[in-house]
Amino acid sequence: MGEIANGHNGDWYEASEEVVAQAHIKDWKAVAEGADRDFVGFWEERAKEFIDWQAPWTKVLDDSDKPFFKWFVGAKTNIVYNAIDRHLKGARRNKLAMIWEGEKGDVRTFSYHALNREVSKFASVLKALGVRKGDRVTIYMGRVPELPIAMLAVAKIGAVHSVVYGGFSTEALHGRLEDSQSRVLVTCDGAFLNGKIVELKKIADEALKRSAAVEHVVVVRRTGHEVSMETGRDMWWHDLMGLPIADPKCPTEIVDAEDPLYMLYTSGTTGTPKAIVHTHGGYQVGIATTLKYVFDLRDDDRWWCAADPGWVTGHSYIVYGPLILGATSFMYEGAPTFPYPDRWWQMIEKYGINVFYTAPTAIRGLMRWGESWPNRRDLSSLRLLGSVGEPINPEAWRWYHRVIGKGKCPIMDTWWQTETGMFMIAPVPSMPLKPGSGTRPFFGQQADIYDEEGRPVKDNEEGFLVLKRPWPAMMRTIYNDPERYVKQYWSKYPGVYLTGDSAKRDEDGYFWIIGRVDDVIKVSGYRLGTAEIESALVSHEAVAEAAVIGLPHEVKGQSIHAYVLLRHGVQATAALADELKAHVGTEMGPIAKPEEISFVDSLPKTRSGKIMRRVLKARAQGLSEGDISTLEE
Ligand code: WT7
Repeated sequence: MGEIANGHNGDWYEASEEVVAQAHIKDWKAVAEGADRDFVGFWEERAKEFIDWQAPWTKVLDDSDKPFFKWFVGAKTNIVYNAIDRHLKGARRNKLAMIWEGEKGDVRTFSYHALNREVSKFASVLKALGVRKGDRVTIYMGRVPELPIAMLAVAKIGAVHSVVYGGFSTEALHGRLEDSQSRVLVTCDGAFLNGKIVELKKIADEALKRSAAVEHVVVVRRTGHEVSMETGRDMWWHDLMGLPIADPKCPTEIVDAEDPLYMLYTSGTTGTPKAIVHTHGGYQVGIATTLKYVFDLRDDDRWWCAADPGWVTGHSYIVYGPLILGATSFMYEGAPTFPYPDRWWQMIEKYGINVFYTAPTAIRGLMRWGESWPNRRDLSSLRLLGSVGEPINPEAWRWYHRVIGKGKCPIMDTWWQTETGMFMIAPVPSMPLKPGSGTRPFFGQQADIYDEEGRPVKDNEEGFLVLKRPWPAMMRTIYNDPERYVKQYWSKYPGVYLTGDSAKRDEDGYFWIIGRVDDVIKVSGYRLGTAEIESALVSHEAVAEAAVIGLPHEVKGQSIHAYVLLRHGVQATAALADELKAHVGTEMGPIAKPEEISFVDSLPKTRSGKIMRRVLKARAQGLSEGDISTLEE
């Protein structure tokens, strides 16, 4: 892979002849031009190429009720049919669909046949528990095979899954259960992480005490430690799966392309997290196409997306995408550095992983342990690498490229969001790369950078990143709040999708993401809302008011800093600061714990009482406070 210096834009990394020769998309310019001329036609072709349908569509894109776009209108399908059922007829039946390794080194594998059996059995169990088409089922688990199995089982019967990340805690889970009104919760006794047990069942019990609509709790035994089981409500997964109700013959419910597949909570600008809704039809077309084109996934590949299935990355690219393409998806339970910092590299060697996809924060964290750990492992099976979740700093990019990819694996830096469902700005392997840039909008998409008034800015100027065309895997609405969907994403600039990111585009048309412009903090790639952390702080009896900001952090990208105004008479002590951090951990989850808590006497606010986090941020970094004409401390 040649390296061509290119002045102020840093280096170009040209794809080698070998990479281009092997690539699914060789002439990316021609494909881009074609898709740009007719993006609806481009997606229609992909829908025919990658997906089987039970009934055809009457219209590819219906934009008559903007921004409530519909794709593949009238078509009948089920994503599980494409992810599993259709592979059972041919040779793929005996191919590994999933390889899983636990933190303790235990291994489980599932052929497509075996996966189908587990999914079908659990789908039958869900039906026996009264779950019907359209019902919501919440899944709150560690990274165990039963997590994707539960997701697929829910989807198979036309119900809607709501996966809550296993790193979240009581209040976060409770809020998501309340909002979704799930009647069934699937969880684990606990999860292994970093040699310790995360008490998932205990947290779930606490969340359920705060009143929820949940009638049945299904518990997977993973850790085997003692947990309390409430008679009449809680049942063991393995008990249910041993009963006749766990019928391995369960038909896949054929649904409308636009029927909901899942909802996934994510943090936005204000208040409580909102549930992004994705559907069966367009979503499967979008994720299959992007995975095939960007990661060039081949039939004999072993693919490892090292994200958590509880986030959109896992939904699209651990579970559904790879299975639709009939690939082998690898999943690992634990942390990358346990018990040693070569845990990931060891598994790449052991399983012969060909394509590996992770987040910049993980790369930066692993970089700190030095090159000797990866160098002791055979990583020669790797062909392509990927990055997602936050901007990758060029230093981490080069380390990843040189030390992990041995200079021969192009890095696919994929920009996207829970809302977009699929990669939106991303290269394909044959494209020349620049470290730190996700390159160009995916085929058929047009992105732009706008100023406050909606005028496109000049090259290399910062502005609001927008997407100008609909795409098949786009979110359809916010669960129970269509107005918020319109207001948050489609109102600043009517007709275009507001991403919430700031970015620049350079003179080569390459996009450079700068970061969120709203009150969203990205900690180790995890998306957290300031409002949710603040409300966790305020729920402590000592706290009167709180404001939370994200500040740059060497490994995590950003870290959480909280400014706390104590109630009258409460003493500000270091012990109290620790207690507040722990409190946020219990309410929201360990990832939301503030790095630092500062006790203050006042918070900068606008005259209307809104906290000016921008001012706090500027002060903390010793920068100019900007326009403070509305400030009233
Ligand atoms: C936000 C979305 C979508 C998968 C995981 C995150 C940031 C995501 C990149 C990237 C720079 C990125 C953006 C975006 N982001 N990928 N390759 N380069 N920034 O999903 O939790 O919904 O977060 O993550 O700020 O808006 P999410």
